[in-house]
This record gives sequence, C-alpha cells and structure tokens, in this order.
Amino acid sequence: MNGKIEQSDSAQQPLRPRPLWQRLLYPFIGIILVILGIILWLTPVVMGFPLIIIGVPLLFCFHPRLELRFRRKMHTIRLMMMNKVKRTEEKRAEVAAMENSSSDSIEYAKSIGYSKQEMKSVPEEAALTHGCGNPTVLAELKEGQTVLDLGCGGGLDVFLAARKVGRKGRVIGLDSSPEIVEKADTSARKNKYENVEFKVAEIEKLPVPDDFVDVVISNCVINHSSDKLVVFREAHRVLKPGGRMFVSDLVTAGKFTEHDLQSVDKLWADWLAAASGKQDYLNAIKEAGFRIITVLAEGTFPMAEADNILKGKIISIQIKGIK
Ligand SMILES: C[S@@+](CC[C@H](N)C(=O)[O-])C[C@H]1O[C@@H](n2cnc3c(N)ncnc32)[C@H](O)[C@@H]1O
Repeated sequence: MNGKIEQSDSAQQPLRPRPLWQRLLYPFIGIILVILGIILWLTPVVMGFPLIIIGVPLLFCFHPRLELRFRRKMHTIRLMMMNKVKRTEEKRAEVAAMENSSSDSIEYAKSIGYSKQEMKSVPEEAALTHGCGNPTVLAELKEGQTVLDLGCGGGLDVFLAARKVGRKGRVIGLDSSPEIVEKADTSARKNKYENVEFKVAEIEKLPVPDDFVDVVISNCVINHSSDKLVVFREAHRVLKPGGRMFVSDLVTAGKFTEHDLQSVDKLWADWLAAASGKQDYLNAIKEAGFRIITVLAEGTFPMAEADNILKGKIISIQIKGIK
C-alpha cells in the first residue's frame, strides 16, 4: 500500500487565471458568505465565523494572481482530502483482507479437527495450519513425554503438544525449511516455551538418537517424501520400544490417467508424482517394523473435492502405529 494518489488529467493541467466575468463571481459569493456569516455570528450561531473566514479571501479574488492562488489552495485541499479518503479505503480493504484470511484459516483449522480454544492457546503467529488433521488430539499425550514432530511447519502442533507434556516433557519440531524453523524458533523464544526445540532437518534422516522419543507426530508431510519407507524406518528407529506414531496425511484412492495428470493444476500434478495409494502407504509403515497399525479415521479432503479430476480420489487419513 502507498499513500500516492492517482490524479485526474484535469488535476495535472497547469492552472490559468479565469476571465474577469468568472473571477467576479468569487467576490460575489464572498459578499454573500460574509453577510450570512455576520448575521449568524450575531444570532449567535457558531457556523457564522467559518463563513466569514472563507468569504473574506473570496472578496479579493477578482485579481488574477489572488484568484489563481486561491484556486491552487483549494486544489491542494481537495487532493489532500482525496488522499485521505483513499488511504482510509485502502486501510479498510487491508484489514478486511486480513480478517478474511485469518477467519478462513481458522475455519480450515476447525474443519480438520482443531478447536477454537486450541488455536487461541498457541502464539498468534503459529495459529495457522497447513496440515490435514490434528495428530496431537489423537496422540493422548502425557506429562513428561518426549514428542517429535516431523515437518513441523510454523510449529502449531509442537506448541499444542508442549502444553500437554508440560515442563518435564519435551517437544522437538523438525522441518527442512530454515526460514520456517527460524520463525517457529523465534516464536518459541518470544513466548517463553522452554520445553520445545526446532531444528532444520530432513525427515528421511532424523538427527535424533535411537529409542529416544515416546511419540512421533506428523501432519501432512510424509506424503511429500518420495521415499516413505525410509521416513517410517527413521520414525521407528527413534521411537522407544512401545512408542507410538500418529500421522495425519494424504493418500490417493483410485487411478489417475496421463490425461488427468496433464489436466490437473500443476501443484497437484507435482504432488501426485510423489503421492502413495492408501495400501502402499500402510505397507510402508508395516515394512518399517511397526507392530500394530490402525487407521483411526479417513475421509475425503475438502480442498480436492472442488476439482472434478481429484474429487473422491484424495483421502485424508489418520494413522496410529506402535513400535
Ligand atoms: C503441508 S506443510 C505441513 C506443516 C505442518 N506440519 C502443519 O501441519 O502445518 C509441509 C511441511 O513439511 C516440510 N517438509 C517437506 N518435505 C520435508 C522433508 N523431506 N523433511 C522435512 N520437512 C519437510 C515443509 O517445509 C513444510 O513445512
């Protein structure tokens, strides 16, 4: 946004003195204003004084130079007022856009399983999800547990888990994007979360010792990996024996033809190149060594439902695996 105003063509033309008969109009209006002002002032009505103030300069506007100066002054005042109106409109539009986007993101968060209270309980800048479920609500986290979030984004699930595991617990959020990790880390420090830590890392190679965490969570991240088996093996490795993994993710159902892949939006086409079908996804978890695997919930993914090609073929799934 900038405060610059676009001027009309007439505003850009240099001002020229008007002919005498037009200039005489100003003193005429001035006399009326001054007389009206004096009458109102004597009544006494406050309006009278401003009328005199405007009327007196008009009395002298029959002179070409004074008339020009007066019109320039009025022109400047008009531009300033237009500028102010424009800025107010821009500000209003900006606030409306912010309100819409934050109310949209809260609506989306609610639609995938976050409560309003949960969204309010985290730092404002982290109250945004790019996930497809709410793994922290399924994970039955307990005080003192160590939790690892694979692909933590801005840290929403990390901050929610941090409240549940308390001061004796610990939550580690990993993400491959240094900018995202930096933002989440700044937010944690600013809001004095002492039991969380954010690190830049790939989920295919976790910087975490074997048998170290009680719970692994992940929200809409593993679907992006081209080697899901490696990711699940890593998750299995870092879990303590009996440890649990809760994953919210997207899988495909049904086949996509070459034509589908060429017609669908590029973002989806790129995503589909790495995506797995539900059964392959579950097989990878099993092959990684998880003993008990449960599909806790599954349903269509609202963002895909608007597209004719994707409709019914992108499934949001919530999975629990026990080591
Ligand atoms: C769809 S967002 C989900 C973010 C977060 N879990 C949430 O629920 O809002 C996917 C995140 O995964 C991260 N990511 C993608 N591939 C990754 C990888 N191989 N290793 C670590 N992080 C990855 C991205 O940087 C991004 O922040």
